[in-house]
Amino acid sequence: MNFCRLRFLAVLLVFGVHVGGADNGDVAFDTSYKIIWGNDHVSLLDQGREAQLSLDINSGAGFGSKLQYESGFFNMRIKLANKNTAGVVTAFYLASSGNSQDELDFEFLGNKEGKPIILQTNVFANGKGDREQRVLLWFDPSADFHTYKILWNHRLIAFYVDGIPIRVFKNNTKIGVKYPTKAMEVHVSIFNGDDWATDGGQTKINWTSSPFTARFQGFNVDGCPLSQVSSTNSRNNCYASKYWWNKRKYWNLDRNQIKEYQNVREKYMNYDYCTDKARYPVTPPECASNQYITI
Ligand SMILES: *[C@@H]1O[C@H](CO)[C@@H](O)[C@H](O)[C@H]1NC(C)=O
Ligand SMILES: *[C@@H]1O[C@H](CO)[C@@H](O)[C@H](O)[C@H]1NC(C)=O
Repeated sequence: MNFCRLRFLAVLLVFGVHVGGADNGDVAFDTSYKIIWGNDHVSLLDQGREAQLSLDINSGAGFGSKLQYESGFFNMRIKLANKNTAGVVTAFYLASSGNSQDELDFEFLGNKEGKPIILQTNVFANGKGDREQRVLLWFDPSADFHTYKILWNHRLIAFYVDGIPIRVFKNNTKIGVKYPTKAMEVHVSIFNGDDWATDGGQTKINWTSSPFTARFQGFNVDGCPLSQVSSTNSRNNCYASKYWWNKRKYWNLDRNQIKEYQNVREKYMNYDYCTDKARYPVTPPECASNQYITI
């Protein structure tokens, strides 16, 4: 095959990826997202395929989805700010608006230079959160882009890092545990969290290291949008198996994923509300099944 043909194929390939780019997330920012706050701390690059948010002493910034969703497999590629990020929080989460919120959080807790950024997750259902888990990642999340995903269907909520499950929250309504039911928006932000994020709030942001800039890509949204027409049936539609993330295959981790998940829990978890006896003398009811412990 000569060089010209190769080049032609390469162009076709690249073009093909852009056109059918749903898997690749290669759509422009404003296809699905809008800036919510800190306009002058947001820049869009690469024809809107990358967003940068920065935090300085004046402001942080955030963006969110234009629509609300009732199920989906949400993803974001993120490269965090590097060096001394103590007190800086970068978040990718789903949240309902109004009272008694449902919320699914990825929160990256910055750290002093040379110390690892901690990834905290949390799950709120009907206003009840207090379910923090923390993992130390097996890579430096400020060195490169990595993919973070949140699966939400009527059976399973799961958090993934580069395809590896790090957290599971099953639908345990049959044992009385509330499960998210409200339409949620996708949110991304960088903000000052130095009253809690690093060393329990003791290490403050050093503003001489600012601005802190995090980069985001992957603006396709695999989600079932809340119907604009109010109808009691809309909820059921978002659980329908015509949406791939609702298919049986996504109702639970498979054997291989369970192994990966247990490996992460064993090697990288550094806090789990489920084992915090001072906070929860009685282990919360959802913990056993979310850890695949059979009792
Ligand atoms: C939880 O699962 C049950 C089936 O076990 C289902 O009937 C219910 O709709 C689910 N709840 C939510 C909030 O998705
Ligand atoms: C903040 O960072 C600067 C530059 O790295 C350093 O000189 C200074 O000592 C730091 N301040 C604090 C309070 O750690």
